[in-house]
Amino acid sequence: MNYRLIKFNVFADARGKLVPLEAEKDIPFEIKRVYYIFDTLPDETRGKHSHKKLQQIIIAIDGSCSIMLDNGKERKKIRLNRPDEGLYIVEGIWREMNEFSYGCKLLVLASEHYDPDEYIRDHSKYIKDANR
Ligand code: TYD
Repeated sequence: MNYRLIKFNVFADARGKLVPLEAEKDIPFEIKRVYYIFDTLPDETRGKHSHKKLQQIIIAIDGSCSIMLDNGKERKKIRLNRPDEGLYIVEGIWREMNEFSYGCKLLVLASEHYDPDEYIRDHSKYIKDANR
């Protein structure tokens, strides 16, 4: 399964903690888009898609959630619960996010601008393509 948990550098002092994220250094791609998800609900599922070429890093900057990854052959469930760790997902991986803690906030860094045509949202089509 093509994913990686990346541990970020934390600068901690008496005032608190800071994590800098630099494109092509801490983050393995050029960041073209940033978005964040908040007001999440424990019973809802987000995602349910894969991308044709987009790579991204998902960070639970507050709270926690589960992310199910599926490459068409195997599935992996990951619990994201640290603001100093990012889940790096390359293109072609189906993802579903659920089991959000109340108030969980996700920060997402993406390698591409938003393009709805770049999504695969039909799971049976995804499985067919993945096993071709
Ligand atoms: P959606 O893809 O359903 O989010 P998730 O992957 O978390 O399930 O996106 C929700 C809405 O936001 C949808 O109408 C598309 C819009 N959107 C943008 O306009 N730009 C973006 O960068 C993203 C990620 C979503």
